[in-house]
Amino acid sequence: MCGIVGYVGKSKCVPKIISGLESLEYRGYDSAGIAYVTNESIKIKKEQGRIKVLKDSLNMNEESYMGIGHTRWATHGKPCKVNSHPHQVGDITIVHNGIIENYEELKNNLKEYKFKSETDSEVVAALIDKLYHEDKDIIKVLSKLKDYLIGSYALGILVNGDDNIYAIRKDSPLIIGISEDGNFIASDVPAILEYTNMYYLLLNDEFALISKDDVVIYDKNGEISTKSLMTFEGSKEAAMKNGYDHYMLKEIYEQPKVVMETIKEYILDYKHLKERMKGLEKYDAIDIVGCGSAYHVGLVGKSLIMKYGKVPVYVDIASEYRYTEHIYSKKHLIILISQSGETADTLAVLREAKQQGIDTLAIVNVVGSSIAREAHKVLYIKAGPEIAVATTKAYLCQLMMLSLIALYLGINKGTLDKKIINEYDNMDLLLEKELENKKELEDIAKLIYKNKDIFYLGRKIDYSLCMEASLKLKEVSYLHSEAYAAGELKHGTISLIEDKTPVISIITDDDIRLKTLSNVKEVCARGALSIIISNEDVLDKSLYTKLIKIPKVHELIGSALVMVKCQLIAYYVARLNGCDIDKPRNLAKSVTVE
Ligand code: G6P
Repeated sequence: MCGIVGYVGKSKCVPKIISGLESLEYRGYDSAGIAYVTNESIKIKKEQGRIKVLKDSLNMNEESYMGIGHTRWATHGKPCKVNSHPHQVGDITIVHNGIIENYEELKNNLKEYKFKSETDSEVVAALIDKLYHEDKDIIKVLSKLKDYLIGSYALGILVNGDDNIYAIRKDSPLIIGISEDGNFIASDVPAILEYTNMYYLLLNDEFALISKDDVVIYDKNGEISTKSLMTFEGSKEAAMKNGYDHYMLKEIYEQPKVVMETIKEYILDYKHLKERMKGLEKYDAIDIVGCGSAYHVGLVGKSLIMKYGKVPVYVDIASEYRYTEHIYSKKHLIILISQSGETADTLAVLREAKQQGIDTLAIVNVVGSSIAREAHKVLYIKAGPEIAVATTKAYLCQLMMLSLIALYLGINKGTLDKKIINEYDNMDLLLEKELENKKELEDIAKLIYKNKDIFYLGRKIDYSLCMEASLKLKEVSYLHSEAYAAGELKHGTISLIEDKTPVISIITDDDIRLKTLSNVKEVCARGALSIIISNEDVLDKSLYTKLIKIPKVHELIGSALVMVKCQLIAYYVARLNGCDIDKPRNLAKSVTVE
């Protein structure tokens, strides 16, 4: 999604804005632009494609100390120079993240303006310009902007002849970074970390005036509000590549550490687990909602919570759930899963649930994000900044969190012994061991990377893992990959199995092992290139070309061991295909539009 960076201060602004935008590349974008103030005027440069193209077109040494920059992920109008931000209309120059739903209606009332782009954002620039010429007071304009706009927006604004940057937000994230040298606006903390770790979080309908040595924040009524300064706790290194070729690989290898940190935060012993999870036992129905990988991890959670917690669990994709009729019990809980805590559809489900009086629990990575702030209760995972668009470490930490919920409920319901807690003690070592043997996964990648179709097969919890494994593969390598419930394949999709079609089967569930193996036999009989990931030996060697053996551990933690193998397969396949692994085409990390 779009990224915003602005700076006003004692240093030249162009290098700071460009490096800030580069730190936000992970959000996904297709064009980039900058507006900076010089002695004569506000200058604007925009380019389609990567930030590097924009950078090459700029004088990085420009005598300019205030500016705003933007990376655009196209929504209204195709990715091209004219649709890129910043947009300048009259005295107003803006960068925008979000979607203005009533832009056509607004446009109809702005007939005196001639629009150059197809964007909703240019309409906002025109609206602000019109109001500014009526009121001659930008603070007054910003305090009433919410009365005009329907939708989501984070805006960075320059006004001709004014020494300040202005910022306003509703439902799209925006922070204000504070440093001795000057002040920033940004969509996310990594953009400012090179210069400062101190920031204010702008809340919905708040707006701000940012000057080189001051920040004034206004509440939704236009009154000056006092806010506490926040400090980003993680190191800057946590958001850097640290010698790895890609963030995705670095984040895969960080998993032993961050998973263990997540575990330790919630279980030192049973007393501690009880303190952190208290109250969850009172629910008689749970809905789990998320998007993408967060939805997939919810499916794994469903298997574990139903089996051990003995509570009915329903899982759905947020963009479906929010438009579906639901029947809630009196003791119903909705668990919202989101790495970013800003995903528009997940946030909408949360707000709707609260309106209906349903209890909500958020499993979130980004501290202080909208979903974390608005849910009744939040369980933070400890993944740290995740930069690669394709999630790895956040997924695994979410998986652990759901496993801990199942553990707590299981102990509570008497299906699990408290001793199971010890199983989590060596989770970091177990994961490290599984990450050691990357050669076998590179070899598998070499076997499959040229194929056009790849299938993942599994049943029950293994099927849920297949869905994430398959998504990982297709999003970073652009190969067509599908996850199939092993028993369902023969009801149609088996027709796609040809000689040497790769089929990766995940088989960790003892109850259903033989059934899945029968399905493996069926695809082998049709010439499939079979790869099996299993926690047991497969005696019939004709059933696979490669067997990836993982240790047999308790089901509550076994899924994590499978997933690190699948993540590495996806990574190496993408690498062999020369893909842009950290920033796959068309994808965005934080999807703040519906
Ligand atoms: C995007 C990302 C996915 C992520 C999904 C949900 O599609 O590319 O990796 O799973 O959004 O994001 P969230 O921040 O809510 O977990």
